[in-house]
Amino acid sequence: MEINVNGVTRAIASPPLTPLLHVLREELNILSPKIGCEQGACGTCTVLVDGEPRRSCLMPVISLDAASVTTVEGLGAPGDLSPVQAAFHEHYAAQCGYCTGGMLMAAQGLLERNGGPVERGQVIEALGAHICRCTGYVKIVDAVMAASRGEVDVAKLDELAEPEPGQPALEIPGSPA
Ligand code: FES
Ligand code: FES
Repeated sequence: MEINVNGVTRAIASPPLTPLLHVLREELNILSPKIGCEQGACGTCTVLVDGEPRRSCLMPVISLDAASVTTVEGLGAPGDLSPVQAAFHEHYAAQCGYCTGGMLMAAQGLLERNGGPVERGQVIEALGAHICRCTGYVKIVDAVMAASRGEVDVAKLDELAEPEPGQPALEIPGSPA
């Protein structure tokens, strides 16, 4: 079988009932979806399937033949963040980062569905079943609202893309993967 992941068609060798989460992480080495409860309750494994947020721990890969899957790796890159990634950065909406991939994908799904500014209640509903254990939800909700309004400081992103010599690398060995 084949699935399209972040715009690239990938042949899948895993057994058909393997959860998409494990196919992404262990076969395709796409590490932004995190392993949490593996029961659909925490949201940290969330990806977009054909544009809709889905818990990848609950989806047998066979159910996704020819589907289009998007993960954080398909949103942006360190020098070219998507609006929702940039807003999370600006609003300090991540701490340990373990929930962040799922939060970003649920937020991206909301913004794509809505197509314009979203209200606090809409964000809370869209992220309601996502658990963050350290940042607190206010900054996350603020970031999603800002992204929906285009309130992202691009200048700051340019600074982020080109760190000064001696600054820590964006990819920190030992950080959650
Ligand atoms: S790991 Fe999938 S919802 Fe928790
Ligand atoms: S940032 Fe640590 S769990 Fe959300």
